[in-house]
Amino acid sequence: MEWFSRSNGELFAEQVSVANIAEQFGTPTYIYSRAGFEAGYKAYEEALSGHPHLICYAVKANSNLAVLNVLAKLGAGFDLVSVGELERVLAAGGDPAKVVFSGVGKQRHEIRRALEVGIHCFNVESEVELERIQEEAAAMNKVASISMRVNPDVDAQTHPYISTGLKDNKFGIDISRAPEVYQRAAELPNIDIVGVDCHIGSQLTTKEPFIDALDRLLILVDQLAERGIKLKHLDIGGGLGISYDGEVPPTPTEYLSEVRGHLMAQEKYQHLAIVVEPGRSIAGNAGLLATEVELIKKSDHKNFVVVDAAMNDLLRPSIYSAYHGIEPVQQDDSKESLFCDVVGPICETGDFLGKDRDIKVAEGDLLAVMSSGAYGFGMSSNYNSRNRIAEVMVDGDKVHQVRRRETIQEQFATESLLPEE
Ligand code: LLP
Repeated sequence: MEWFSRSNGELFAEQVSVANIAEQFGTPTYIYSRAGFEAGYKAYEEALSGHPHLICYAVKANSNLAVLNVLAKLGAGFDLVSVGELERVLAAGGDPAKVVFSGVGKQRHEIRRALEVGIHCFNVESEVELERIQEEAAAMNKVASISMRVNPDVDAQTHPYISTGLKDNKFGIDISRAPEVYQRAAELPNIDIVGVDCHIGSQLTTKEPFIDALDRLLILVDQLAERGIKLKHLDIGGGLGISYDGEVPPTPTEYLSEVRGHLMAQEKYQHLAIVVEPGRSIAGNAGLLATEVELIKKSDHKNFVVVDAAMNDLLRPSIYSAYHGIEPVQQDDSKESLFCDVVGPICETGDFLGKDRDIKVAEGDLLAVMSSGAYGFGMSSNYNSRNRIAEVMVDGDKVHQVRRRETIQEQFATESLLPEE
């Protein structure tokens, strides 16, 4: 995370002190680095340059408008899973012609809106959905471009909740049945087949599962060619992991040069454009969560550092036992190291940000929960009636608030009492 660095023990986001940001905007606050997002995106551009490609940032990883806008300005496409994400992309200046629409349960109104704005393609996850898209496209007198999301049945070797490419998962069409479904699609008058896609899981730290899936997709490409169905692109999904705790995942170049190698090895695959849907590997290390220590609760067998951020702000540790580094914003070697759990104030045992950590910390200190740019704010909630927190983006020596902290009034503004009796 080179956009977060230290000078005299003090943590900086690009050129701005994290402590100053916390003072100005309060805590907890998500702090993003524009350079971080840009570097994440450019790593994919570089890895794919010279080969026809489309990089569709997975909006769910971090859907703040400013983040989408920064990426749209670089020419990014977007992978989305709801009409809400589509409207965000449009509001942020994204190009609908570079949008792929994934998701197992697209609703009719979502399909219509996507057709209206002219997205690049629907990633179709079932036969029912295929028929639904045909019906909506016909009613609008349009042709819908589609790719089939196939389930290649490979084990992504990641946390079971973020593994999506096994037969048991709800995602995609079983690869063995895909040729039939493509055949059906080819018969539908308002459907144009443009590609095939898969997404086998998230936070993968080795290439092998990706390459296994790719090889299975290429067999399908052959089977389709035999039926006279020619694809234009191969969408290999997202999923490349990041380093949370010393993992060394392949870089986009290491991963994609192997993919390109497989395509270039045989003439019949060389025309295929590569589509990727990275989320975490663009956003994850471009953000941290700044939080303040409220109090320290010590007991004989356990110490708890209670901070003002909680599981409603960053859910990943609670639901995936995910590890995020937790560091003091100001390192102070004169303080004693405390072996502790870092927990929030929510009434749940699962409300922790880190367990069994050694941190030099005192009441009132600021802590940074690292690698929180992806699946951080986007998974947050108002649980325990806590306001959604602020998000700021640092750009060089400037800080921009890209979402202000919610107020209590805003939190329940859409609720109402029953009428008086
Ligand atoms: N494409 C599709 C169809 C997806 O479902 C996902 C993520 C992505 C792309 C982007 O994957 P990435 O490059 O970010 O790994 N909340 C979990 C992660 C859930 C991922 C869901 N799908 C977490 O915090 O680890």
